[in-house]
Amino acid sequence: ADIIDLPASMGKVAFPHKQHQEALKDCKACHQNGPGKIAELNKDWAHKTCKGCHAEMKKGPTSCKECHKK
Ligand code: HEM
Ligand code: HEM
Repeated sequence: ADIIDLPASMGKVAFPHKQHQEALKDCKACHQNGPGKIAELNKDWAHKTCKGCHAEMKKGPTSCKECHKK
């Protein structure tokens, strides 16, 4: 899917997967163990991986409500 909905208690995160594939051109940024389901995907992983990268690249959302929408 182009957009993957990730459920979360404070509002789901609509993750633009295709956009990340095209922008990063590197599956391993998220799929360390190969493409497909990410077993370690949870709040801590997402905040470290998603928010961490956005902060580092100074691109992409880093505040709660930019990602979490009710
Ligand atoms: C899920 C492939 C890059 C994050 C998936 C799935 C596949 C896949 C096959 C499972 C789809 C589904 O269950 O509907 C790939 C390939 C990539 C790539 C081939 C590189 C070209 C990325 C990148 C990120 C990412 C760069 C993060 C920035 C995710 C997430 C999921 C996912 C969060 C959902 C995981 C889950 O529900 O457990 N990807 N992906 N992917 N991908 Fe990727
Ligand atoms: C942009 C979510 C992981 C790099 C974005 C946007 C969202 C998002 C919502 C804004 C898209 C838009 O409106 O244009 C997420 C989530 C992640 C994740 C939920 C984890 C599952 C990552 C990672 C990296 C990354 C790991 C880098 C390794 C970027 C970049 C942009 C972006 C570079 C800007 C893309 C562009 O301008 O085309 N992300 N992201 N993201 N993210 Fe992520």
